Amino acid sequence: MSDGSSFYVTTPIFYVNDVPHIGHAYTEVAADVLARWHRQAGDDTWFLTGTDEHGQKILRTATANGMTPKEWSDKLVAEAWQPLLNTIDISNDDFIRTTDDRHEINVQLFLQRLYDAGYIYTGEYEGYYCVGCEEYKQLTDLEEGTGQYEGQLVCKIHSKPVELLKERNYFFRMSDFTQPLLDLYAARPDFVQPESVRNEIVAFVRRGLTDLSISRQTFDWGIKVPWDESHVVYVWFDALLNYITAIGYGYDQAEFERRWPATHIVGKDIARFHAVIWPAMLMAAGLEVPKQVYGHGWLLVGGEKMSKSKLTGIAPEQITDTFGSDAFRYYFMRAISFGQDGSFSWEDLSARYQAELANGFGNLASRVIAMVTRYHDGTIPDAVPSTVTEAETAIRATEKRATAAADEAIERLAVHEAIAAIWQLVDELNGYITLQEPWVLAKDPANADRLATVLNTAVRGLGTLAVLLSPVVPEAAAKLWAALSGTGSVEEQPIRSAWEWKGEPRVEPLQALFPRIEVEAS
Ligand code: MSP
Repeated sequence: MSDGSSFYVTTPIFYVNDVPHIGHAYTEVAADVLARWHRQAGDDTWFLTGTDEHGQKILRTATANGMTPKEWSDKLVAEAWQPLLNTIDISNDDFIRTTDDRHEINVQLFLQRLYDAGYIYTGEYEGYYCVGCEEYKQLTDLEEGTGQYEGQLVCKIHSKPVELLKERNYFFRMSDFTQPLLDLYAARPDFVQPESVRNEIVAFVRRGLTDLSISRQTFDWGIKVPWDESHVVYVWFDALLNYITAIGYGYDQAEFERRWPATHIVGKDIARFHAVIWPAMLMAAGLEVPKQVYGHGWLLVGGEKMSKSKLTGIAPEQITDTFGSDAFRYYFMRAISFGQDGSFSWEDLSARYQAELANGFGNLASRVIAMVTRYHDGTIPDAVPSTVTEAETAIRATEKRATAAADEAIERLAVHEAIAAIWQLVDELNGYITLQEPWVLAKDPANADRLATVLNTAVRGLGTLAVLLSPVVPEAAAKLWAALSGTGSVEEQPIRSAWEWKGEPRVEPLQALFPRIEVEAS
């Protein structure tokens, strides 16, 4: 927990063959909460996301839609992927597209360096390729197709037939890195997390790595291999490099050194690319490996990974149009233990919205502000020391404890635990108000000092909540902050000392943070 240290967080870059669903949005929100937290903690934070635009999958989709792959990518980025970031309030510092010049030029530079260093050779490969995964598959990754694909081998992830390819390609000597990778996992147990993903990766590498085919010759939608333009770079090799081409690799060494290494947030389906191929590539180039690869769980529908190809995709706007972006962010970060799979359900979302956001947090905020308005003319009183009791000391202690516990949980990327820690303050403040009954105190002028202490304590607690919850529910936190006349913007408030927040001693009207919603369960 070093204030002022560098924190560089990334999401996968998303394929533009289709529009986003809530699984993609889930990754974005998780990375965004981490980035916002670190920014608010004063760390030198950088948050990168973007799109993966080369390869056969995009080429085929574009062709099927009567467009060039670049036209198709431009359209999807402008109409779907960039707007997603607004829909769910993402605070990315940069957005990289693999068709950017800064990327294409420096992928070539990286490849040339590996070639010159002797890590690349020509070879022949024959194997089953899944265009959905953009990956050569082992037989264990395949199964017999059913229905229209009966009699064919299909990919277990996409349930679509694989293609038997035989090509003369360039190969990366990945097998050289079997031992260095095992040494890395042993020396840095948190390099790959969570534990379940780490165990899978270690077991995979222990079986020994084979060299990796890193070019394709049968189509041309990709970055040209610099010494042989009849080949394009394999799309994963191209895509992984986005994490360094975006921050100056090859053109801004100072920026690169300032940002790298990164914390990569990815779905567990692609952890292997990030925790095996990517560090091997970096080692070959003499660069530092990532700080961490975190493979989060899947959003499941009907017990299976939600996906467009299986027609189970839900668009993020379907949720945000009704519940708003804050509720979307809160729900997925709170309801699913980060690192595990989770099932989305409208019933669970509505129930948590009502109980936790509207009744738990929203009502607390509106009640406290209404009481300051009604009983104290909108002026926030100072606490009167002679009337301070254990109840107030306990609230102050919870503010500090929740702050420290949440920060420690964020450090471990346990976002759900961080929110749970903050929610203890929500619950305790609600209990405090019920017990202290300011509406009773307000009836008798003899209790004026005690009332001042209670209102002050409740307002202080709310302000601390606004600061702590800003990374998760930025819109609600900003509204609350404004109603509390907090100093500056809530996003600027140092999160590791949230309870020390400052403002003018006055409240302003607050609209309901989480208005009542009538939803039909679907
Ligand atoms: N383009 C590659 C990534 C290259 S990174 C160098 C890719 N793109 S993708 O569009 O298929 O996005 C995959 C990512 O989307 C997953 O790793 C995960 O972060 C997210 N998810 C897609 N479906 C998901 C669920 N059902 N549940 C949770 N996350 C999901 O792979």
